[in-house]
Amino acid sequence: MQIHVLNGVNLDVLDRRDPDFYGGVSPDELEPRLHPWARELGCTAVCRQTNHEGELIEWCHDALDLRSGGVIINPGAWTHYSYALRDAVELIKAPVVEVHLSNIDEREDWRRQSVIGDLAAKRILGKGPDGYREALQFLVENSADE
Ligand code: DQA
Repeated sequence: MQIHVLNGVNLDVLDRRDPDFYGGVSPDELEPRLHPWARELGCTAVCRQTNHEGELIEWCHDALDLRSGGVIINPGAWTHYSYALRDAVELIKAPVVEVHLSNIDEREDWRRQSVIGDLAAKRILGKGPDGYREALQFLVENSADE
């Protein structure tokens, strides 16, 4: 089972961002944690990060016809306003889990809006990197295994 882990804008500079929200984790630390978690859960994680909105949308297109597994997506600030991203996520047939390292529901008003929130099979907020583990587990337990 393959799970696409898609990280969006500014997640490549996490270690320079406010540690109160992002825990000072470096992007180089995030991905290596995912692979052993995926292995333990019996799936494969394909991890990608981009600062280009169109690229993230193309990666969503790559996942449109996934017949097993699913997509874990943390779009960064695009979460709050990218209707182009919403339109792409809406087309994904496999379950999509929205993950945010920080709890966006407890931050500024503008962060409380997620344009993909209602499309997500599950939303995991404010659990730091462990949120990705929970997302992998959810997808392993809840997606079709063809
Ligand atoms: C974030 C929350 C977003 O509001 C912010 O713009 C990010 C990271 C998170 O993981 O907590 O870049 O998606």
